[in-house]
Amino acid sequence: MTDFKEIIAKEIENKDIGLSFEEIYKLIEIPPQDNMGDFSFPCFTLAKTMRKNPAIIAKDLAETLEIEGISKVESLNAYLNFFLDRDKFETGILNEILEKKEDYGKSNIGEGKTRVLDFSSVNIAKPFHIGHIRSTVIGDALRNIQEFLGYETVASNYIGDYGTQFGTMIAAYKLWGDDDKLRENPIKELLNLYVRYNDEASKDEKMMENARKEFKNLESGEEEAVRLWSWFKEISFSEFDRVYKLLDIDFDNYNGESYHSEFIPAVIEELKEKNLLVESEGAYIIDLSDYDLPPSIIIKSNGSSAYITRDIATAINRKKVYDFDENLYVVATQQNLHFQQLKAILEKMGYDFYKDCIHIPFGMVSLKDQTLSTRKGQVVFLEDVLNKAIDKTREIMEDRDSQIEDVEETSRIVGIGAVKFQELYNNRIKDYVFDWDEVLNFDGETGPYVQYTYARAKSVLRKADFSETKTKDFTKISSDEEFALVKSLANFKDVVIKACEKYEPSLITRHTTEIAKNFNKFYNACQINVDDERLKEERLALTYATSIVIKTALGLLGIKTVEQM
Ligand code: ARG
Repeated sequence: MTDFKEIIAKEIENKDIGLSFEEIYKLIEIPPQDNMGDFSFPCFTLAKTMRKNPAIIAKDLAETLEIEGISKVESLNAYLNFFLDRDKFETGILNEILEKKEDYGKSNIGEGKTRVLDFSSVNIAKPFHIGHIRSTVIGDALRNIQEFLGYETVASNYIGDYGTQFGTMIAAYKLWGDDDKLRENPIKELLNLYVRYNDEASKDEKMMENARKEFKNLESGEEEAVRLWSWFKEISFSEFDRVYKLLDIDFDNYNGESYHSEFIPAVIEELKEKNLLVESEGAYIIDLSDYDLPPSIIIKSNGSSAYITRDIATAINRKKVYDFDENLYVVATQQNLHFQQLKAILEKMGYDFYKDCIHIPFGMVSLKDQTLSTRKGQVVFLEDVLNKAIDKTREIMEDRDSQIEDVEETSRIVGIGAVKFQELYNNRIKDYVFDWDEVLNFDGETGPYVQYTYARAKSVLRKADFSETKTKDFTKISSDEEFALVKSLANFKDVVIKACEKYEPSLITRHTTEIAKNFNKFYNACQINVDDERLKEERLALTYATSIVIKTALGLLGIKTVEQM
């Protein structure tokens, strides 16, 4: 297709202004207002290379630039503004979408590169709670986006299945465990045991000691400890599976903390050889004062490994196995320090790939109306939230008296989609409040709104019996609404690349909302079913192209569409 940014950049490059094509390409912007054209190029940086006033440079360039597909070039102060030839532009973009269909927007910029994505990473014997949803949904979207751009991806659920807390669980089970209760309500019961033990152990150092001893037993392979731990794992997984199925999210591996523990002895050896371990009160630590960071405990005084020890072993192992280009950790901001320490240690060990181990932090989620959520102890179970979303959507559907055939499946797709959309709507670093009224508002900037827009487009196409377009020229559509919609479809490609570069799926969520809004404006302003057959055909094709792009965009966010709503 015609990438106008590329064409403009080439023509500017030909004017020998002392910047490379790439530099020019990067500088080209989309202006904030329509009267400033469709693209603009700031000439400020040229003042240095050309030793002239940037406004004069802009004026001179505007007079000499002639670009295929651009109907007008104007200078405004230090900016060059380019106005597209609308007919050519619309024809170019729409034909491209209609030809490529679900491949529209794909690229191969990631070809030959592998990205490991560590996300969701829930903990065994602990509830899969609302806090985990962010990592799960953001990680999945990033994986989809990277795959779309040609990267090889490895989705790793780094299960938290090792550490002192399992010692606690084993010790608690041995004291108070009740198999019947456990089978009935595994996670809740394990949580009860865990909470009770921690409670009592806070007053009794001996119990603390005992929990650490049980973890040591587990690490050294003691039979009963391993048996209990494996059982806890098994019952936890059957719960997780249900949630992942609801979310329709899967992983390439579940290689978690225990899986990587076999690589720990070699890491300890290496750290010793490299003289990085310092003994401190019976424990072994790495001093990170040269990074202005607190020291990391690598081996506890009873000889057990720590969370960070397992992460060091994991990063080294991942590099060996996948030779990743980036190893991404989608983990809450609370662990910022942990990942700073991890990178510092890898650098100290001489691993250059420390630079490619990237923490993708995100803010916290809290629930607005606690009474609407099922509270079990102190935690809100994600499964309950998802089921509630489905139930509420079903209620709304029934109230709206819509003609949907499969209400159950539709409620599932719309309800889960609504939760995911909300998760991905804001800049990931922001804390946000989960608010049911907002999540399921069909008129707000929400998942249901976008899904509804998609269904509306499909319904228009069904009613008109539209299948494939015969039109290749889009010269009849001419309104601002139509042009704005085509532009937002065209910008989708850039948005995907930016979202990938910035690890920010919200850019796509926002842009998809904009496409939906533009479609609804077009739908309200322009009648589709008109007598002029050519115009009607073009408008239907535009509707079809919009549906294709919305479907792809939602797909990248891990959200499905429905044909009727
Ligand atoms: N299981 C941890 C938690 O729930 C997150 C693990 C993140 N990944 C990692 N490689 N440390 O807090």
